[in-house]
Amino acid sequence: MFGIAGFVFACGGGKGGGEVSAEALADGKDTFGKFCVACHGSTGNMALNGAKKFGESTLNLDERVAVITNGRNMMTPYKGILTEDQIKNVAAYTIELTKSAK
Ligand code: HEC
Repeated sequence: MFGIAGFVFACGGGKGGGEVSAEALADGKDTFGKFCVACHGSTGNMALNGAKKFGESTLNLDERVAVITNGRNMMTPYKGILTEDQIKNVAAYTIELTKSAK
């Protein structure tokens, strides 16, 4: 499948955090659009209800997965709502939002 050209993700680069495929990011974007935009906004910088702007986030992938899974303050826990894969993919997508906000 060559359908997804929107995301250029450096395969094999980075700090050993594992690779994320274009398919995974597309899935994460889909999940984000359904579950996260209400508070975080489509670019991740809306910051409603005290939501953290992803452009200012310093959390790594594992830490984001933990926040999304278990929630934090006003942030809903998504354990049981999203699968582990969906959480991982949407966390990876928020990393893209952090990068693109810079
Ligand atoms: C009900 C509103 C709401 C929804 C819906 C929501 N969030 Fe959040 N999110 C927040 C708030 C508020 C915070 C800040 C939590 C705190 O005070 O520590 C946050 C924090 C985060 C953080 C941590 C950022 C950082 O650097 O500390 C991540 C990652 C995150 N959200 C991802 C998501 C994802 C992915 C979704 C969709 C699956 C989502 N959120 C849906 C409100 C929301």
